[in-house]
Amino acid sequence: MQFETILSPLLLPLYDLHGKTVVVIDILRATSTICTGLNTGVEHFLAVSQPTEAIEAQKKGYIAAAERNAVKPEGFLLGNSPFEYLNKDILGKKIAITTTNGTRCISLSNNAYEIIIGSFLNLNAVAKYCINSKRDVVAFCAGWKDKFNLEDTLFAGALANKLAGKIEINCDSTIAAIDLYKSAENNLFKYLKKASHAKRFEKLGIKNDMKFCLQMSIYDIVPKVENGVISLKNL
Ligand code: MLT
Repeated sequence: MQFETILSPLLLPLYDLHGKTVVVIDILRATSTICTGLNTGVEHFLAVSQPTEAIEAQKKGYIAAAERNAVKPEGFLLGNSPFEYLNKDILGKKIAITTTNGTRCISLSNNAYEIIIGSFLNLNAVAKYCINSKRDVVAFCAGWKDKFNLEDTLFAGALANKLAGKIEINCDSTIAAIDLYKSAENNLFKYLKKASHAKRFEKLGIKNDMKFCLQMSIYDIVPKVENGVISLKNL
């Protein structure tokens, strides 16, 4: 089982996703938010590219959710904070969501054998799934507007570290991700205070979102993506 890490969507053309399990990673906050919503009981999420598509999907019974530059745009009921997806009002609901980075990575992963959603919140469940699938794994970091970010690479390193002994690593970005994770694993929140997104969150007064997204393996779920639909049903 090979493990590779894509540090930015711009590097995607250098990787072959065919036959592989792609783990889409956007720790702050898309994949953390999606895991939270599905764990609460959202029927499914539909990842869309534009806010207008999310609004359009309301005609088919979807709740529209959006985030751009870490902020919920005007006119949207839901944004991209996991705290918005703990409320039982979303039980059984379908949510069309678009975010700055995370949902874009989902649509870029179409050549994969399968696409699953990874976050620290479901890390153990994702690791177990990868071991059972026995397929090559590609950790796909959403980053920030195609730039490298610390939090997504930390997760890639945490996942590769969990799979140690079961995976073959011939990928320097995975080696770097593991080393980065090992340097921060004792206190991810403290380490990530220096991250660019943490500074954005500080300015917006939403640093509690970061604390929430760094909880370890609190959800025993593995969301799977089929044609943009993200649910727990396709396992
Ligand atoms: C995203 O989740 O796509 C973004 O990284 C930004 C955010 O939600 O703060």
